[in-house]
Amino acid sequence: MPTLFDPIALGALTAPNRIIMAPLTRARSTHDHVPTAIMVDYYAQRASAGLITSEAIGISRQGNGFPYAPGIWSAEQVAAWKPVTQAVHHKGGRIVAQLGHTGRAGHSAVIGEQPVSSSATAAPVDAWTYDGPKSPETARPLAADEIPGLVADYAHAARNAVAAGFDGVQIHAANGMLIDQFLRNNSNLRGDDYGGSIANRMRLLEQVARAVAGVVGADRTSVRLSPNGETWGVDDSDPTPLFTAVADMLATIDIAFLELREPAPGDVFGGTDVPRQSPMIRQHFKGKLILNSDYDLVRAQADIDSGLADAISFGRPFLANPDLVQRLQDGAPLNPAKRETSIARGRKATPTIRR
Ligand SMILES: Cc1cc2nc3c(=O)[nH]c(=O)nc-3n(C[C@H](O)[C@H](O)[C@H](O)COP(=O)(O)O)c2cc1C
Repeated sequence: MPTLFDPIALGALTAPNRIIMAPLTRARSTHDHVPTAIMVDYYAQRASAGLITSEAIGISRQGNGFPYAPGIWSAEQVAAWKPVTQAVHHKGGRIVAQLGHTGRAGHSAVIGEQPVSSSATAAPVDAWTYDGPKSPETARPLAADEIPGLVADYAHAARNAVAAGFDGVQIHAANGMLIDQFLRNNSNLRGDDYGGSIANRMRLLEQVARAVAGVVGADRTSVRLSPNGETWGVDDSDPTPLFTAVADMLATIDIAFLELREPAPGDVFGGTDVPRQSPMIRQHFKGKLILNSDYDLVRAQADIDSGLADAISFGRPFLANPDLVQRLQDGAPLNPAKRETSIARGRKATPTIRR
């Protein structure tokens, strides 16, 4: 029976342990979404993770709705990512790029245009901008003939991720971002080939996954979903048939791994009464499954022992404990993450964004 400290093959990558660093937006890039030196240190310090997933990286200006979040569509951004991946590799680590598009969660004050989504809906929470929170804007529904361009943006970002030295790519289909806005039936109200039936709602994710896999290889492509509960108001009335169908589709593409963020009722980060979908998804996705949210060592090992998960990703514990793997191995106490500086610009950060 493997332990958290045993290696695991994740597609083309071999993680020396099963303690994966979850994606964590830190908002430490420039106003033009170019990575900065502090990010080189930050990621290198966490190189002992089995695998690092980067913070969400915008695939395009239209999709980079969070202030100071990094992007990967320009040559300048690619050049600024190279020291990050090199520093992680130099320390013996591995890092994949989480590629995202914020969709309706973005704001024109940040992206320079009306945000887009599957349908003309608005998030029920304020948008983050450089001037603080602003009322959410109603999104412009993407026209069907704009979708090939959107898929091409993901492929372009994936190509740039390889050029920047990332070991693979994670498609961000979780947490109320654009792909999630297409997947779920409270945000996707379309009547065309991208809305209505489950097959239609997951069409965008399938096209993006196939395009990205075509660029970086399916064995370096992963996907993140958040199948239970809502984030940024994005939710589904019947998640099990949707996400088991998504799992079947991703299994067909033979991606390197699937990661699920699944808060439980009492969880402090988006707790929900909607049951975890992983037991059902596990029946449909026989590839490597990574589970996330509010794990500690005991729960993590229990889910590996039961066969529910192959590895566990940790988010907030990695913020305040760069040496998390060693601490878990030693049974050492963990520093608590500081919420007020989690998403902020520097070492002595004053919070610029509220969550
Ligand atoms: C500060 C912060 C930033 C986050 N940024 C991202 C992100 O960029 N992409 C993403 O998929 N999830 C993001 N998350 C969610 C985490 O990856 C993770 O799912 C969540 O923190 C629960 O896991 P944990 O209990 O181990 O922290 C973020 C969470 C926090 C606290």
